[in-house]
Amino acid sequence: MTTTSFDPTSTPAWQQLKPLAADANSENITDYFNQNPNRHQDYALRQEGLYLDYSKNLVSDKVRQCLTALAEQSPLKEKMAAMFAGERINTTEDRSVLHTVLRDLDGDDHVVDGANLTQAIAAELDKMDRFAESVRSGNWTGETGKAITDIVNIGIGGSDLGPKMVCKALEQYAHERINFHFISNVDGAEINSTLKRLNPETSLFIISSKTFTTQETLMNAEAALNWYQSQAGMANAQNSKHFIAVTANPANAKKYGIADNQIFEFWDWVGGRYSLWSAIGLSIALCIGMDHFKRLLAGAKAMDDHFRTAPYGQNMPVILALLGIWYSNFLGAETVAVIPYCERMGLLPSYLQQLDMESNGKSVNAEGEPIDYDTGPIIWGQTGTNGQHAFFQLLHQGTRLVPLDLIATISDPLSNPEQHRALLGNLVAQSAALMAGESGEGIPSYKSYPGNRPTNVLLMDELSPYNLGSLIALYEHKVFTQGIIWNINSFDQWGVELGKKLAKSLLSDSASQLSGFDSSTQALMALIQK
Ligand code: F6P
Repeated sequence: MTTTSFDPTSTPAWQQLKPLAADANSENITDYFNQNPNRHQDYALRQEGLYLDYSKNLVSDKVRQCLTALAEQSPLKEKMAAMFAGERINTTEDRSVLHTVLRDLDGDDHVVDGANLTQAIAAELDKMDRFAESVRSGNWTGETGKAITDIVNIGIGGSDLGPKMVCKALEQYAHERINFHFISNVDGAEINSTLKRLNPETSLFIISSKTFTTQETLMNAEAALNWYQSQAGMANAQNSKHFIAVTANPANAKKYGIADNQIFEFWDWVGGRYSLWSAIGLSIALCIGMDHFKRLLAGAKAMDDHFRTAPYGQNMPVILALLGIWYSNFLGAETVAVIPYCERMGLLPSYLQQLDMESNGKSVNAEGEPIDYDTGPIIWGQTGTNGQHAFFQLLHQGTRLVPLDLIATISDPLSNPEQHRALLGNLVAQSAALMAGESGEGIPSYKSYPGNRPTNVLLMDELSPYNLGSLIALYEHKVFTQGIIWNINSFDQWGVELGKKLAKSLLSDSASQLSGFDSSTQALMALIQK
Protein backbone atom coordinates (compact mmCIF):
# COMPACT_ATOMS: atom_id res chain seq x y z
CA MET A 1 0.00 0.00 0.00
CA THR A 2 1.40 3.38 -0.97
CA THR A 3 1.83 5.85 1.86
CA THR A 4 2.82 8.90 -0.17
CA SER A 5 0.13 11.48 -0.70
CA PHE A 6 -1.58 11.09 -4.05
CA ASP A 7 -2.85 14.22 -5.78
CA PRO A 8 -4.98 13.37 -8.83
CA THR A 9 -4.60 16.88 -10.22
CA SER A 10 -0.88 16.41 -10.68
CA THR A 11 -1.19 13.28 -12.82
CA PRO A 12 -0.46 13.62 -16.57
CA ALA A 13 -3.96 12.31 -17.28
CA TRP A 14 -5.64 15.05 -15.23
CA GLN A 15 -3.55 17.68 -17.02
CA GLN A 16 -4.55 16.23 -20.39
CA LEU A 17 -8.21 16.18 -19.42
CA LYS A 18 -8.30 19.91 -18.62
CA PRO A 19 -8.00 21.17 -22.23
CA LEU A 20 -10.27 18.33 -23.37
CA ALA A 21 -12.93 19.68 -21.01
CA ALA A 22 -12.68 23.07 -22.69
CA ASP A 23 -13.15 21.33 -26.08
CA ALA A 24 -16.09 19.30 -24.79
CA ASN A 25 -18.06 22.47 -24.18
CA SER A 26 -18.30 22.93 -27.92
CA GLU A 27 -18.76 19.27 -28.81
CA ASN A 28 -21.92 17.31 -29.29
CA ILE A 29 -22.74 13.78 -28.23
CA THR A 30 -24.70 13.21 -31.43
CA ASP A 31 -21.57 14.03 -33.42
CA TYR A 32 -19.76 11.23 -31.64
CA PHE A 33 -22.45 8.88 -32.92
CA ASN A 34 -22.12 10.26 -36.44
CA GLN A 35 -18.37 9.73 -36.32
CA ASN A 36 -18.64 6.19 -34.99
CA PRO A 37 -21.62 4.08 -36.05
CA ASN A 38 -20.55 1.43 -33.51
CA ARG A 39 -20.52 3.80 -30.58
CA HIS A 40 -23.57 2.13 -29.01
CA GLN A 41 -21.50 -1.08 -28.85
CA ASP A 42 -18.11 0.43 -28.10
CA TYR A 43 -19.58 2.30 -25.17
CA ALA A 44 -21.57 -0.56 -23.68
CA LEU A 45 -20.70 -3.30 -21.23
CA ARG A 46 -22.44 -6.43 -20.08
CA GLN A 47 -21.66 -8.00 -16.73
CA GLU A 48 -23.88 -11.04 -16.32
CA GLY A 49 -27.46 -9.76 -15.79
CA LEU A 50 -26.51 -6.07 -16.02
CA TYR A 51 -26.13 -4.08 -19.21
CA LEU A 52 -24.61 -0.60 -19.16
CA ASP A 53 -24.96 1.70 -22.17
CA TYR A 54 -22.79 4.74 -21.52
CA SER A 55 -22.63 5.88 -25.13
CA LYS A 56 -24.81 8.94 -24.56
CA ASN A 57 -22.16 10.73 -22.54
CA LEU A 58 -20.21 13.83 -23.45
CA VAL A 59 -17.14 11.68 -23.73
CA SER A 60 -15.00 11.39 -26.85
CA ASP A 61 -12.64 8.50 -27.47
CA LYS A 62 -9.76 10.71 -26.38
CA VAL A 63 -11.49 11.66 -23.15
CA ARG A 64 -12.27 8.04 -22.39
CA GLN A 65 -8.64 7.13 -22.99
CA CYS A 66 -7.44 9.86 -20.62
CA LEU A 67 -9.98 8.93 -17.98
CA THR A 68 -8.82 5.34 -18.10
CA ALA A 69 -5.23 6.61 -17.85
CA LEU A 70 -6.26 8.58 -14.75
CA ALA A 71 -7.36 5.34 -13.13
CA GLU A 72 -4.08 3.71 -14.17
CA GLN A 73 -2.06 6.59 -12.76
CA SER A 74 -3.94 6.47 -9.45
CA PRO A 75 -3.22 3.92 -6.71
CA LEU A 76 -6.52 2.17 -7.49
CA LYS A 77 -4.98 -1.22 -8.11
CA GLU A 78 -3.01 -1.34 -4.89
CA LYS A 79 -5.79 0.17 -2.77
CA MET A 80 -8.26 -2.31 -4.20
CA ALA A 81 -5.91 -5.13 -3.23
CA ALA A 82 -5.46 -3.55 0.20
CA MET A 83 -9.20 -3.38 0.78
CA PHE A 84 -9.85 -6.97 -0.27
CA ALA A 85 -6.88 -8.15 1.84
CA GLY A 86 -8.24 -6.50 4.97
CA GLU A 87 -5.62 -3.77 5.39
CA ARG A 88 -6.81 -0.96 7.63
CA ILE A 89 -7.63 1.44 4.85
CA ASN A 90 -10.15 3.28 7.05
CA THR A 91 -7.27 5.06 8.74
CA THR A 92 -9.18 7.58 10.89
CA GLU A 93 -11.03 4.74 12.58
CA ASP A 94 -8.13 2.29 12.25
CA ARG A 95 -10.39 -0.32 10.65
CA SER A 96 -10.36 -2.79 7.81
CA VAL A 97 -13.09 -2.48 5.19
CA LEU A 98 -14.25 -6.01 4.53
CA HIS A 99 -17.91 -6.01 3.55
CA THR A 100 -16.78 -7.93 0.44
CA VAL A 101 -15.82 -10.88 2.64
CA LEU A 102 -19.44 -11.14 3.79
CA ARG A 103 -20.38 -12.27 0.30
CA ASP A 104 -17.40 -14.49 -0.42
CA LEU A 105 -19.11 -17.62 0.81
CA ASP A 106 -17.30 -20.25 -1.21
CA GLY A 107 -13.78 -18.86 -1.37
CA ASP A 108 -10.72 -19.54 0.75
CA ASP A 109 -10.86 -18.62 4.42
CA HIS A 110 -10.17 -14.96 5.14
CA VAL A 111 -7.90 -14.67 8.12
CA VAL A 112 -7.25 -11.11 9.24
CA ASP A 113 -5.11 -10.31 12.30
CA GLY A 114 -5.28 -13.97 13.27
CA ALA A 115 -9.09 -14.08 13.22
CA ASN A 116 -10.85 -16.43 10.83
CA LEU A 117 -13.55 -14.14 9.46
CA THR A 118 -14.97 -16.75 7.11
CA GLN A 119 -15.85 -19.06 9.99
CA ALA A 120 -17.39 -16.26 12.04
CA ILE A 121 -19.46 -15.14 9.04
CA ALA A 122 -20.61 -18.69 8.29
CA ALA A 123 -21.69 -19.19 11.91
CA GLU A 124 -23.70 -15.95 11.90
CA LEU A 125 -25.29 -16.77 8.54
CA ASP A 126 -26.24 -20.12 9.91
CA LYS A 127 -27.88 -18.53 12.90
CA MET A 128 -29.76 -16.11 10.62
CA ASP A 129 -30.82 -19.01 8.46
CA ARG A 130 -32.25 -20.99 11.37
CA PHE A 131 -34.01 -17.98 12.84
CA ALA A 132 -35.44 -16.77 9.52
CA GLU A 133 -36.66 -20.23 8.68
CA SER A 134 -38.31 -20.67 12.03
CA VAL A 135 -40.10 -17.29 11.92
CA ARG A 136 -41.17 -17.78 8.31
CA SER A 137 -42.47 -21.29 8.92
CA GLY A 138 -44.43 -20.14 11.96
CA ASN A 139 -42.41 -22.28 14.38
CA TRP A 140 -41.07 -19.19 16.10
CA THR A 141 -44.04 -17.81 17.94
CA GLY A 142 -44.69 -14.86 20.20
CA GLU A 143 -45.14 -15.30 23.94
CA THR A 144 -48.75 -16.41 23.50
CA GLY A 145 -47.91 -19.07 20.94
CA LYS A 146 -49.03 -17.24 17.81
CA ALA A 147 -47.00 -17.05 14.60
CA ILE A 148 -45.39 -13.72 13.71
CA THR A 149 -47.33 -11.56 11.25
CA ASP A 150 -45.46 -8.24 11.53
CA ILE A 151 -41.75 -7.52 11.69
CA VAL A 152 -40.57 -4.04 12.59
CA ASN A 153 -36.96 -3.14 11.81
CA ILE A 154 -35.91 -0.28 14.05
CA GLY A 155 -32.70 1.33 12.80
CA ILE A 156 -31.43 4.34 10.91
CA GLY A 157 -28.89 5.13 8.17
CA GLY A 158 -27.12 1.95 7.13
CA SER A 159 -29.18 -0.03 9.63
CA ASP A 160 -32.34 0.94 7.76
CA LEU A 161 -31.80 2.16 4.20
CA GLY A 162 -30.26 -1.00 2.72
CA PRO A 163 -32.71 -3.54 4.19
CA LYS A 164 -35.69 -1.26 3.48
CA MET A 165 -34.62 -0.67 -0.12
CA VAL A 166 -33.95 -4.36 -0.79
CA CYS A 167 -37.17 -5.61 0.84
CA LYS A 168 -39.19 -3.21 -1.28
CA ALA A 169 -37.28 -3.96 -4.47
CA LEU A 170 -37.67 -7.72 -4.00
CA GLU A 171 -41.28 -7.74 -2.84
CA GLN A 172 -41.94 -10.32 -5.54
CA TYR A 173 -40.17 -12.78 -3.21
CA ALA A 174 -41.70 -11.52 0.05
CA HIS A 175 -43.26 -13.86 2.56
CA GLU A 176 -47.02 -13.84 2.22
CA ARG A 177 -48.01 -13.95 5.88
CA ILE A 178 -45.53 -11.43 7.21
CA ASN A 179 -45.70 -7.65 6.84
CA PHE A 180 -42.51 -5.63 7.12
CA HIS A 181 -42.21 -2.17 8.65
CA PHE A 182 -39.15 0.06 8.86
CA ILE A 183 -38.95 2.70 11.54
CA SER A 184 -36.01 5.06 11.45
CA ASN A 185 -36.88 8.66 12.28
CA VAL A 186 -36.99 9.82 15.88
CA ASP A 187 -40.32 11.41 14.92
CA GLY A 188 -42.54 9.58 17.41
CA ALA A 189 -45.65 10.02 15.26
CA GLU A 190 -44.13 7.54 12.83
CA ILE A 191 -43.68 4.67 15.26
CA ASN A 192 -46.96 5.46 17.00
CA SER A 193 -48.94 5.18 13.80
CA THR A 194 -47.22 1.87 12.99
CA LEU A 195 -47.79 0.45 16.47
CA LYS A 196 -51.47 1.33 16.27
CA ARG A 197 -51.84 -1.15 13.43
CA LEU A 198 -50.00 -4.01 15.14
CA ASN A 199 -51.05 -6.90 17.31
CA PRO A 200 -48.49 -7.29 20.11
CA GLU A 201 -48.96 -11.07 20.18
CA THR A 202 -47.75 -11.46 16.61
CA SER A 203 -45.20 -8.62 16.33
CA LEU A 204 -41.43 -8.96 16.26
CA PHE A 205 -39.09 -6.00 16.73
CA ILE A 206 -35.55 -6.05 15.34
CA ILE A 207 -33.39 -3.37 16.94
CA SER A 208 -30.69 -2.82 14.32
CA SER A 209 -27.77 -0.65 15.27
CA LYS A 210 -24.08 -1.18 14.63
CA THR A 211 -23.12 0.83 17.70
CA PHE A 212 -26.27 0.24 19.76
CA THR A 213 -25.92 3.83 20.93
CA THR A 214 -27.84 5.73 18.24
CA GLN A 215 -30.36 8.12 19.77
CA GLU A 216 -33.12 7.64 17.20
CA THR A 217 -32.94 3.85 17.33
CA LEU A 218 -32.82 3.62 21.10
CA MET A 219 -35.76 6.00 21.51
CA ASN A 220 -37.83 4.10 18.97
CA ALA A 221 -36.89 0.81 20.63
CA GLU A 222 -38.01 2.23 23.95
CA ALA A 223 -41.33 3.34 22.43
CA ALA A 224 -41.87 -0.14 20.98
CA LEU A 225 -40.94 -1.78 24.26
CA ASN A 226 -43.26 0.45 26.30
CA TRP A 227 -46.09 -0.20 23.87
CA TYR A 228 -45.51 -3.96 23.92
CA GLN A 229 -45.27 -4.11 27.70
CA SER A 230 -48.44 -2.12 28.26
CA GLN A 231 -50.36 -4.12 25.67
CA ALA A 232 -49.10 -7.49 26.83
CA GLY A 233 -49.09 -6.66 30.54
CA MET A 234 -45.52 -7.84 30.78
CA ALA A 235 -42.39 -6.39 32.36
CA ASN A 236 -38.84 -6.68 30.98
CA ALA A 237 -40.20 -7.67 27.61
CA GLN A 238 -36.90 -6.85 25.92
CA ASN A 239 -35.98 -10.34 27.10
CA SER A 240 -39.03 -11.87 25.40
CA LYS A 241 -39.32 -13.58 22.03
CA HIS A 242 -40.56 -10.31 20.53
CA PHE A 243 -37.26 -8.40 20.68
CA ILE A 244 -34.19 -9.15 18.58
CA ALA A 245 -30.95 -7.16 18.31
CA VAL A 246 -28.53 -6.87 15.40
CA THR A 247 -25.33 -5.10 16.34
CA ALA A 248 -21.55 -4.94 16.31
CA ASN A 249 -21.78 -4.05 19.99
CA PRO A 250 -23.36 -7.16 21.57
CA ALA A 251 -22.34 -6.00 25.05
CA ASN A 252 -24.73 -3.05 24.80
CA ALA A 253 -27.54 -5.25 23.46
CA LYS A 254 -27.02 -7.62 26.41
CA LYS A 255 -27.04 -4.70 28.81
CA TYR A 256 -30.30 -3.62 27.22
CA GLY A 257 -31.67 -7.00 28.18
CA ILE A 258 -32.01 -8.81 24.84
CA ALA A 259 -31.72 -12.59 25.22
CA ASP A 260 -28.27 -13.87 24.20
CA ASN A 261 -29.54 -16.19 21.48
CA GLN A 262 -31.54 -13.31 19.99
CA ILE A 263 -28.51 -11.07 19.43
CA PHE A 264 -27.13 -11.25 15.90
CA GLU A 265 -23.64 -9.95 15.46
CA PHE A 266 -21.53 -8.25 12.88
CA TRP A 267 -18.18 -6.58 13.12
CA ASP A 268 -16.48 -3.19 13.17
CA TRP A 269 -14.91 -3.88 9.77
CA VAL A 270 -18.38 -3.65 8.22
CA GLY A 271 -19.22 0.02 7.65
CA GLY A 272 -22.82 0.98 8.47
CA ARG A 273 -23.63 1.91 4.87
CA TYR A 274 -22.06 -1.37 3.67
CA SER A 275 -23.85 -3.53 6.23
CA LEU A 276 -26.88 -4.93 4.42
CA TRP A 277 -24.76 -7.98 3.56
CA SER A 278 -24.24 -8.74 7.25
CA ALA A 279 -26.76 -9.62 9.97
CA ILE A 280 -28.20 -6.15 9.35
CA GLY A 281 -29.77 -8.00 6.41
CA LEU A 282 -31.78 -10.14 8.86
CA SER A 283 -35.00 -8.38 7.89
CA ILE A 284 -34.15 -9.12 4.24
CA ALA A 285 -33.62 -12.81 5.02
CA LEU A 286 -36.91 -12.85 6.94
CA CYS A 287 -38.69 -11.15 4.07
CA ILE A 288 -37.37 -13.03 1.02
CA GLY A 289 -35.95 -16.16 2.67
CA MET A 290 -32.36 -17.15 3.25
CA ASP A 291 -31.84 -18.73 -0.18
CA HIS A 292 -32.75 -15.50 -1.89
CA PHE A 293 -30.61 -13.53 0.57
CA LYS A 294 -27.68 -15.74 -0.42
CA ARG A 295 -28.41 -15.05 -4.10
CA LEU A 296 -28.19 -11.34 -3.28
CA LEU A 297 -24.76 -12.00 -1.76
CA ALA A 298 -23.75 -14.09 -4.77
CA GLY A 299 -24.69 -11.31 -7.19
CA ALA A 300 -22.57 -8.86 -5.22
CA LYS A 301 -19.69 -11.34 -5.17
CA ALA A 302 -19.86 -11.64 -8.96
CA MET A 303 -19.52 -7.85 -9.18
CA ASP A 304 -16.58 -7.98 -6.73
CA ASP A 305 -14.82 -10.44 -9.02
CA HIS A 306 -15.55 -8.34 -12.08
CA PHE A 307 -14.23 -5.22 -10.31
CA ARG A 308 -11.03 -6.99 -9.27
CA THR A 309 -10.24 -8.56 -12.60
CA ALA A 310 -11.68 -6.56 -15.53
CA PRO A 311 -9.35 -4.10 -17.25
CA TYR A 312 -10.34 -0.55 -16.38
CA GLY A 313 -11.72 0.13 -19.86
CA GLN A 314 -14.20 -2.71 -19.44
CA ASN A 315 -14.76 -2.42 -15.75
CA MET A 316 -18.30 -1.29 -14.98
CA PRO A 317 -17.68 0.33 -11.58
CA VAL A 318 -14.49 1.99 -12.82
CA ILE A 319 -16.22 3.34 -15.93
CA LEU A 320 -19.09 4.78 -13.87
CA ALA A 321 -16.60 6.30 -11.44
CA LEU A 322 -14.54 7.90 -14.20
CA LEU A 323 -17.63 9.35 -15.89
CA GLY A 324 -18.62 10.87 -12.55
CA ILE A 325 -15.16 12.40 -12.14
CA TRP A 326 -15.30 13.82 -15.65
CA TYR A 327 -18.58 15.59 -14.95
CA SER A 328 -17.72 16.71 -11.40
CA ASN A 329 -14.14 17.79 -11.77
CA PHE A 330 -13.94 18.87 -15.40
CA LEU A 331 -17.40 19.89 -16.58
CA GLY A 332 -18.68 21.40 -13.32
CA ALA A 333 -21.67 19.17 -12.60
CA GLU A 334 -22.74 19.45 -8.98
CA THR A 335 -25.22 16.61 -8.83
CA VAL A 336 -26.04 13.18 -10.24
CA ALA A 337 -29.65 12.06 -10.62
CA VAL A 338 -30.54 8.40 -10.23
CA ILE A 339 -33.85 7.53 -11.84
CA PRO A 340 -35.09 3.97 -11.51
CA TYR A 341 -37.89 3.22 -13.96
CA CYS A 342 -39.40 0.82 -11.48
CA GLU A 343 -41.53 1.76 -8.48
CA ARG A 344 -40.14 -1.15 -6.49
CA MET A 345 -36.70 0.40 -6.81
CA GLY A 346 -37.96 3.76 -5.62
CA LEU A 347 -35.78 3.72 -2.51
CA LEU A 348 -32.57 3.26 -4.49
CA PRO A 349 -31.83 7.02 -4.73
CA SER A 350 -32.04 7.52 -0.95
CA TYR A 351 -29.98 4.38 -0.37
CA LEU A 352 -27.34 5.70 -2.79
CA GLN A 353 -27.41 9.11 -1.10
CA GLN A 354 -25.98 7.58 2.05
CA LEU A 355 -23.62 5.26 0.21
CA ASP A 356 -22.15 8.03 -1.92
CA MET A 357 -22.52 11.21 0.10
CA GLU A 358 -21.50 9.79 3.48
CA SER A 359 -18.56 8.07 1.81
CA ASN A 360 -17.25 10.80 -0.47
CA GLY A 361 -18.55 14.04 1.02
CA LYS A 362 -15.06 14.94 2.22
CA SER A 363 -12.77 17.96 1.84
CA VAL A 364 -9.51 16.67 3.26
CA ASN A 365 -7.44 13.93 1.71
CA ALA A 366 -6.50 10.62 3.27
CA GLU A 367 -3.49 12.32 4.87
CA GLY A 368 -5.76 14.93 6.47
CA GLU A 369 -4.65 17.79 4.20
CA PRO A 370 -7.23 20.15 2.67
CA ILE A 371 -7.85 19.52 -1.01
CA ASP A 372 -8.68 22.02 -3.72
CA TYR A 373 -10.73 19.87 -6.09
CA ASP A 374 -14.32 18.74 -5.87
CA THR A 375 -15.19 15.37 -4.38
CA GLY A 376 -18.52 13.54 -4.02
CA PRO A 377 -21.49 14.98 -5.91
CA ILE A 378 -25.00 15.49 -4.58
CA ILE A 379 -27.02 12.37 -5.31
CA TRP A 380 -30.73 12.70 -5.77
CA GLY A 381 -33.55 11.20 -7.74
CA GLN A 382 -36.89 9.53 -7.85
CA THR A 383 -38.64 7.03 -10.03
CA GLY A 384 -39.41 7.49 -13.71
CA THR A 385 -41.87 8.14 -15.14
CA ASN A 386 -42.96 10.12 -12.05
CA GLY A 387 -39.91 12.38 -12.23
CA GLN A 388 -40.73 13.21 -15.85
CA HIS A 389 -43.83 15.00 -14.59
CA ALA A 390 -41.98 16.84 -11.88
CA PHE A 391 -38.35 17.85 -12.41
CA PHE A 392 -37.45 16.68 -15.91
CA GLN A 393 -38.35 20.16 -17.16
CA LEU A 394 -35.15 21.42 -15.52
CA LEU A 395 -33.15 18.51 -16.87
CA HIS A 396 -34.24 19.30 -20.44
CA GLN A 397 -34.27 23.08 -20.44
CA GLY A 398 -32.63 24.28 -17.23
CA THR A 399 -29.23 25.90 -16.98
CA ARG A 400 -27.50 23.13 -15.06
CA LEU A 401 -25.63 20.08 -16.21
CA VAL A 402 -27.11 17.03 -14.48
CA PRO A 403 -25.79 13.62 -15.54
CA LEU A 404 -28.37 10.90 -15.06
CA ASP A 405 -28.35 7.20 -14.35
CA LEU A 406 -31.54 5.70 -15.81
CA ILE A 407 -32.13 2.22 -14.42
CA ALA A 408 -34.71 -0.40 -15.36
CA THR A 409 -35.41 -4.07 -15.61
CA ILE A 410 -35.95 -5.53 -19.09
CA SER A 411 -38.58 -8.01 -18.05
CA ASP A 412 -40.97 -7.65 -15.17
CA PRO A 413 -43.32 -10.53 -14.42
CA LEU A 414 -45.21 -8.35 -11.93
CA SER A 415 -46.19 -5.80 -14.56
CA ASN A 416 -48.44 -5.98 -17.60
CA PRO A 417 -46.55 -6.36 -20.91
CA GLU A 418 -48.07 -3.24 -22.40
CA GLN A 419 -47.39 -1.10 -19.37
CA HIS A 420 -43.87 -2.41 -19.05
CA ARG A 421 -43.22 -1.55 -22.69
CA ALA A 422 -44.51 1.95 -22.04
CA LEU A 423 -42.27 2.28 -18.99
CA LEU A 424 -39.14 1.22 -20.85
CA GLY A 425 -40.12 3.23 -23.90
CA ASN A 426 -40.22 6.31 -21.71
CA LEU A 427 -36.77 5.60 -20.35
CA VAL A 428 -35.25 5.19 -23.79
CA ALA A 429 -37.11 8.23 -25.12
CA GLN A 430 -35.81 10.40 -22.29
CA SER A 431 -32.27 9.27 -22.88
CA ALA A 432 -32.60 10.06 -26.61
CA ALA A 433 -34.36 13.40 -26.06
CA LEU A 434 -31.87 14.58 -23.46
CA MET A 435 -29.06 13.89 -25.91
CA ALA A 436 -30.55 14.98 -29.23
CA GLY A 437 -32.65 17.91 -28.03
CA GLU A 438 -34.68 19.84 -30.57
CA SER A 439 -34.10 23.33 -31.84
CA GLY A 440 -33.78 25.27 -35.07
CA GLU A 441 -35.54 27.66 -37.29
CA GLY A 442 -39.24 28.05 -36.61
CA ILE A 443 -39.01 26.59 -33.13
CA PRO A 444 -39.52 29.29 -30.51
CA SER A 445 -36.79 29.46 -27.89
CA TYR A 446 -39.14 28.38 -25.10
CA LYS A 447 -39.91 25.23 -27.05
CA SER A 448 -36.27 24.50 -27.86
CA TYR A 449 -34.33 21.75 -26.22
CA PRO A 450 -30.57 22.30 -26.22
CA GLY A 451 -29.87 18.56 -25.83
CA ASN A 452 -26.33 17.30 -25.28
CA ARG A 453 -27.34 16.17 -21.79
CA PRO A 454 -25.70 12.94 -20.69
CA THR A 455 -27.27 9.73 -19.48
CA ASN A 456 -26.12 6.27 -18.50
CA VAL A 457 -28.67 3.54 -19.12
CA LEU A 458 -28.41 0.52 -16.83
CA LEU A 459 -30.67 -2.39 -17.66
CA MET A 460 -31.12 -5.47 -15.55
CA ASP A 461 -32.41 -8.58 -17.25
CA GLU A 462 -34.84 -8.93 -14.36
CA LEU A 463 -35.14 -7.64 -10.83
CA SER A 464 -33.79 -10.79 -9.16
CA PRO A 465 -31.91 -10.95 -5.85
CA TYR A 466 -28.74 -11.82 -7.79
CA ASN A 467 -28.97 -8.87 -10.17
CA LEU A 468 -29.89 -6.48 -7.38
CA GLY A 469 -26.85 -7.67 -5.41
CA SER A 470 -24.68 -6.94 -8.44
CA LEU A 471 -26.22 -3.52 -8.92
CA ILE A 472 -25.62 -2.47 -5.30
CA ALA A 473 -22.03 -3.74 -5.38
CA LEU A 474 -21.55 -1.88 -8.67
CA TYR A 475 -22.35 1.40 -6.93
CA GLU A 476 -20.24 0.47 -3.88
CA HIS A 477 -17.21 -0.03 -6.08
CA LYS A 478 -17.95 3.09 -8.11
CA VAL A 479 -17.89 5.10 -4.88
CA PHE A 480 -14.71 3.31 -3.75
CA THR A 481 -12.95 4.04 -7.05
CA GLN A 482 -13.85 7.71 -6.91
CA GLY A 483 -12.66 7.91 -3.31
CA ILE A 484 -9.30 6.44 -4.27
CA ILE A 485 -8.86 8.79 -7.23
CA TRP A 486 -9.81 11.76 -5.05
CA ASN A 487 -7.49 10.36 -2.36
CA ILE A 488 -10.05 10.61 0.42
CA ASN A 489 -11.10 8.16 3.10
CA SER A 490 -14.48 6.90 1.87
CA PHE A 491 -15.08 4.86 5.00
CA ASP A 492 -15.41 7.32 7.85
CA GLN A 493 -18.22 9.81 8.51
CA TRP A 494 -16.93 12.32 11.03
CA GLY A 495 -19.11 14.99 9.44
CA VAL A 496 -22.21 13.65 11.17
CA GLU A 497 -20.79 13.90 14.70
CA LEU A 498 -21.00 17.64 15.42
CA GLY A 499 -24.77 17.76 14.86
CA LYS A 500 -25.22 14.79 17.19
CA LYS A 501 -23.09 16.44 19.85
CA LEU A 502 -24.94 19.76 19.65
CA ALA A 503 -28.35 18.07 19.72
CA LYS A 504 -27.32 16.27 22.90
CA SER A 505 -26.19 19.45 24.49
CA LEU A 506 -29.31 21.38 23.41
CA LEU A 507 -31.52 18.66 24.82
CA SER A 508 -29.78 18.65 28.17
CA ASP A 509 -31.70 20.56 30.80
CA SER A 510 -28.87 22.74 31.86
CA ALA A 511 -29.34 26.41 31.01
CA SER A 512 -25.59 26.90 31.00
CA GLN A 513 -25.34 24.53 28.03
CA LEU A 514 -27.70 26.75 26.09
CA SER A 515 -25.82 29.94 26.87
CA GLY A 516 -22.95 28.76 24.68
CA PHE A 517 -25.17 28.91 21.59
CA ASP A 518 -25.86 31.84 19.26
CA SER A 519 -28.93 34.00 19.88
CA SER A 520 -30.96 32.47 17.05
CA THR A 521 -30.47 28.97 18.44
CA GLN A 522 -31.34 30.12 21.95
CA ALA A 523 -34.50 31.88 20.73
CA LEU A 524 -35.62 28.83 18.74
CA MET A 525 -35.14 26.59 21.76
CA ALA A 526 -37.03 29.03 23.95
CA LEU A 527 -39.91 29.03 21.48
CA ILE A 528 -39.96 25.22 21.33
CA GLN A 529 -39.73 24.85 25.09
CA LYS A 530 -42.64 27.20 25.67
O1 F6P B 1 -24.91 9.06 11.88
C1 F6P B 1 -24.42 8.33 10.82
C2 F6P B 1 -24.36 6.88 11.13
O2 F6P B 1 -23.29 6.62 11.95
C3 F6P B 1 -24.31 6.04 9.86
O3 F6P B 1 -23.04 5.95 9.34
C4 F6P B 1 -24.91 4.76 10.33
O4 F6P B 1 -25.29 3.96 9.27
C5 F6P B 1 -26.06 5.29 11.14
O5 F6P B 1 -25.53 6.43 11.79
C6 F6P B 1 -26.64 4.35 12.15
O6 F6P B 1 -25.70 3.91 13.08
P1 F6P B 1 -25.94 2.63 13.96
O7 F6P B 1 -26.12 1.48 13.06
O8 F6P B 1 -24.73 2.51 14.81
O9 F6P B 1 -27.18 2.87 14.79
